[in-house]
Amino acid sequence: MNNIQIKDISKYLGQEVSIMCWVYNKRGSGKLNFLEIRDGSGFTQVVAEKDSLTADDWDLTDKIGLESSAKVNGVVKKHPAKEVYEIGLKSIELLGVSHEFPIGKKEHGPDFLFENRDLYLRSKTPWAVLRIRDQVFRSITQFFFEEGFVRFDTPILQPTSCEDTTQLFSLKYYEEAIMYLTQSGQLYLEAGIASLGKAYDFGPVFRAEKSKTRNHLSEFWMMDAEMAFFDQKASEDLQEKLVKRIINDVLTGCSKELELLQRNTEILKKTVESDFIRIKHFDAKKLVEEKYNLKVEYEDDMTTEEEIIIGNHFNIPVFIEDYPMAVKSFYMKSYTDSRNMLRAINADLIAPEEAREIIGGSQREENYAKLKSEVVKRNYSLEDYNWYLDTRKYGTVIHSGFGLGLERIVRWLSGVHHIRETIPFPRTTVLKKP
Ligand code: 4AD
Repeated sequence: MNNIQIKDISKYLGQEVSIMCWVYNKRGSGKLNFLEIRDGSGFTQVVAEKDSLTADDWDLTDKIGLESSAKVNGVVKKHPAKEVYEIGLKSIELLGVSHEFPIGKKEHGPDFLFENRDLYLRSKTPWAVLRIRDQVFRSITQFFFEEGFVRFDTPILQPTSCEDTTQLFSLKYYEEAIMYLTQSGQLYLEAGIASLGKAYDFGPVFRAEKSKTRNHLSEFWMMDAEMAFFDQKASEDLQEKLVKRIINDVLTGCSKELELLQRNTEILKKTVESDFIRIKHFDAKKLVEEKYNLKVEYEDDMTTEEEIIIGNHFNIPVFIEDYPMAVKSFYMKSYTDSRNMLRAINADLIAPEEAREIIGGSQREENYAKLKSEVVKRNYSLEDYNWYLDTRKYGTVIHSGFGLGLERIVRWLSGVHHIRETIPFPRTTVLKKP
């Protein structure tokens, strides 16, 4: 008899098979019991008829607790009209007992579900979202391989900050030294590209942000890419290609998952076929002010509300370019605009459908003296950043890069409301366990 996985069930129509599984739901009607089972690869239904089973097996299908594990044997049948397959049960063996599974049939609030995340992971939404996450991860690594990038793993323990110094998690490192958990591997990648040309990293990063939005995690996965000899325009072109590739792969490779999540994919399909919008920060603020009658601050970062408006206005991803340098990081290349404002040569990529910023990137300041004076201006320790300044001292080149937040893009593609759904065990200001 074939020991099969549920994802392959259609290949075994009419044959007797066995499946190792968990029973995630059940209902019965006197002489018929229906067990809904899952095995990690998919979901299906087992139909148990009293008259064709031994008394013990029938009894088990009656009494089996939700989330018990079992081995079921039976014949694969197909729904007459739909592409739906099920198992006509011949025998069943209990593997692991489960009594009173805490996440039952009734609706639970998110607090309860995340306090029991270890068990909630077994539900259909996490199953689908985490499979989309896996697809995104694979698409990104394949894309960079095909584009000639080298994976370059950057340290998690870092002696300095890359982004805002107020968002650092610090820890004691041996005797007296303080170290920080990485916010981004970017600065190290900038050293890496002087060896490898184009490089990327992909790993967990940490931000001690007090934000309680549905878009912020304290620990998330970031992919930083860095390219020698790329200006900001070339970097944005690459980002657009990458995002389209990811969406294409998810649309084709995760159609089951998207369907299960009831994701309307119209905008995702449109995104793949359209040129992304590129708009200056000043013009984005002006659009919000004039078209949506909102009071805006031209010197400030984009607010949550403004990002959502811009996303909804265009309904495809938008690069908002050239933010005021005062709200951006020290390493960005800058210029003074016609209104005498110092602006970064950068872009945040804003996704539609309220997904907000999914990528942050910039051209880097390649001039040693200018970069050094920015470090001093921001009161960073020159001693700590000397190694980074060295990258500009010996054969400096124009270069650019960007960082993509894995959970941000997974949230957008899967359409789940809150970013905590997109990582197996989320860490936020309130979520610390399990
Ligand atoms: O814009 P950020 O802060 O850029 C950097 O860290 C650069 N050093 C990256 C680079 O150029 N190599 O963060 C990059 C991305 C954001 O666009 C967002 O997708 C994600 O990281 N991100 C978060 N995701 C979840 N929770 C948070 N608290 C996040 N903060 C940023």
